[in-house]
Amino acid sequence: MVNGNIISKVDAIIHPLKLNHEDYLKDGHLLNNELNRGLKSTKDSSVKMYLTYVRSLPNQKERGVYLALDLGGTNIRVVLIEFLPNKINVIDQQCHEIPATLFFSSGSQLFDFIAENVIQFAIKNKLAGVRVALGFTFSFPSVQHGLAEATLVAWTKNFMCPGVVGYDVVQLLKQSLKRKMDRSIPYIDVVAIINDTTGTLIYGSLKDSNCKIGLIVGTGSNCCYVEQLQNIDKWPYNYSEPNQVIINCECGAFGDNGVLDCLATSWDRTIDYESLNITKQIHEKIIAGMYLPELLRRIMLTLVEKGLLFNGLAPIELFVPYSIKTKFMSLIDLDDGRKDLTNTKEALKKIFKYFKCNETDLRIIFSINNTITRRSAYFVATALWTLAKRIDQVNVSVAYDGSLICKHPHYKRWVKEKVNEFAQNEGIEKVIGFVEAPDGSIYGAAIVAAICYREKRPKFIKKNGKVYEITRF
Ligand code: BGC
Repeated sequence: MVNGNIISKVDAIIHPLKLNHEDYLKDGHLLNNELNRGLKSTKDSSVKMYLTYVRSLPNQKERGVYLALDLGGTNIRVVLIEFLPNKINVIDQQCHEIPATLFFSSGSQLFDFIAENVIQFAIKNKLAGVRVALGFTFSFPSVQHGLAEATLVAWTKNFMCPGVVGYDVVQLLKQSLKRKMDRSIPYIDVVAIINDTTGTLIYGSLKDSNCKIGLIVGTGSNCCYVEQLQNIDKWPYNYSEPNQVIINCECGAFGDNGVLDCLATSWDRTIDYESLNITKQIHEKIIAGMYLPELLRRIMLTLVEKGLLFNGLAPIELFVPYSIKTKFMSLIDLDDGRKDLTNTKEALKKIFKYFKCNETDLRIIFSINNTITRRSAYFVATALWTLAKRIDQVNVSVAYDGSLICKHPHYKRWVKEKVNEFAQNEGIEKVIGFVEAPDGSIYGAAIVAAICYREKRPKFIKKNGKVYEITRF
């Protein structure tokens, strides 16, 4: 039997998480202001609108063999990719979990670990004596001064390695590769660095030429889009064709100047105060898979303290920060639209070893979980709609990737529904398509490396008195 009295008390407590359409309109309006400010000057906006220097999208004329490296979450991935006419062939790939200690170790330890993995992978693929171009996906806020130059501005997510912020990460990677490379192994040349959103957009645009927005909702969250050069006051170069560039919005930082405080709750504030990057990545902390389960845990704890959940007795796991995994939130949301809450029960059994829970508890946990995940999806939809309106075409597609948006059973649908609601309410003729770009972040890095060589591809390259063959494939 569900206790209606408890349910209404809980509803009142979690009410601030249930934003209405007016709130999302306000969010979109505030975001649009920040986007405009960011295009004028990076320092005056919380949304930095970093220039990526990627101006050309793939045109199927890319050829050759490239390495791609991805650093952005809990793993590093290396892929060897071959571009054939009408086909991208993954020759080999490798994924390594980053040892937990490295998240806080020095930058050189982190980059040495990465370089070691890349070199071992190249050796395994018999690339000795070959000069191979590498595209590097580095998914943290970085200022770029060119296609292969990126200074890290701040770590986000769970990284905090000293000695990297303020440095060019391409140089750090090159130094580590140099330290590890000896005569018998390949010459790995880092030719491009991109953000995961950029990679996703580039990969998506191979599938759908209307793709003009890249979206990641996984451990972290962020968007990028294609902007016309004449709209970018801070564009430092000439306006030659192609007259466009991909902007890495870094919209996870939206709200770092306090503009989102009116929409955030006390739980959002506590997550921020107790995070590794206090007052930073406010938008990301409301949206991303790294923070949502922590939000769920904190709200449950509040309700236990008030005697409204688990009869006021907290299971021990509830006291451990970041102990709940995002996959359990997806499992709980499988009960969306269903009467029985068997998946919620199943998830709770996995989260808590010993727990006693009644039907009221199940209803409450389902409701919190559903509310915060929908709120995340609606914030994402608002950002997409705000970006889509800046793009001067009726059909705009969004290439997306990331564990939350790809693996959650309803997230994508909620994003689409909210975007459609915006379109209908505002009467704007715009059709937003969605293109899944699985592993786009890493494929995109290889594609950008290939785009660099689309026009002009030397057969040999001389380096330190040695001649390397560019490709043998
Ligand atoms: C980073 C972005 C990245 C996003 C998704 C954020 O924490 O700042 O650069 O695109 O995570 O991985």
